[in-house]
Amino acid sequence: MSRYENTFFQGEEAEERRPSGWAAMLRRVDTVVSTQEAAKELAEQGAPEGTAVMAEEQTGGRGRQGRRWHSPKGKGIWMSVVLRPSIPLQLTPQLTLLAGAAVCSAIRRETGVEAGIKWPNDLLVNGRKLCGILLESCAWPSGLQYTIAGIGISANLAEEDYPEELRKIGTSLLIESGRETEREELARAVLKELETLYGVYLEQGLDPIAALWSEQSVTLGRRVMLRTPEGPQEGTAVRLEEDGGLVVLRTDGETETLYAGEIALI
Ligand code: BTN
Repeated sequence: MSRYENTFFQGEEAEERRPSGWAAMLRRVDTVVSTQEAAKELAEQGAPEGTAVMAEEQTGGRGRQGRRWHSPKGKGIWMSVVLRPSIPLQLTPQLTLLAGAAVCSAIRRETGVEAGIKWPNDLLVNGRKLCGILLESCAWPSGLQYTIAGIGISANLAEEDYPEELRKIGTSLLIESGRETEREELARAVLKELETLYGVYLEQGLDPIAALWSEQSVTLGRRVMLRTPEGPQEGTAVRLEEDGGLVVLRTDGETETLYAGEIALI
């Protein structure tokens, strides 16, 4: 038996509230170093696509670019999902856009908080970060084996739950809406949306996902700062390419298409 058992809605829970699909594949755990590792362990054991692990607390939650992810106990949705897409490894940045669009849709619908997507998949409210998403893939020489989509939504953190250095740059659903979020419910809604958009992506390709991403973006049309081999460059984020790259028109007149890395909104 796995350490990450599915304890979700067992027992007396009413039949009509019983989730289905990916929403039913959520496993709750108490404290882990990182749900990314827990989900990887499950993926290595053959867990099916859509299997998700949500922790009460992460002691070593991680973000992009080797940063730490603040994951206090009982305050957030710290969750990782196993994906097994049959796509070439170089298309995984498209899953990054997909995950951002799915989480943003679920948050807007379930909580009414109008989060917007900063490229590639940070969710911001009034310039402060509400949610971060980290995709990590495991590939064989023959192709992609699995991808773990790690989602960190700061749900019920109050200002004082943030360390001083994050207080101005981080926000939460509680801070933005004044209401506590039922975390399991939102986690299930996120998984449902992710499952739906993932199905759309596998059937129809990136176009409908890119359209949704663009609609929810707080990046397109904005002045941005990007890192280039020649140093920092300013420009304007113009649109997404058909393959998901972010087209930036630089102030030096060059056009650049980004597939990875980070930008700053200025
Ligand atoms: C980022 O914005 O840098 C990405 C943050 C991703 C955080 C989530 S929380 C659940 C999962 N487990 C982790 O250790 N990280 C991701």
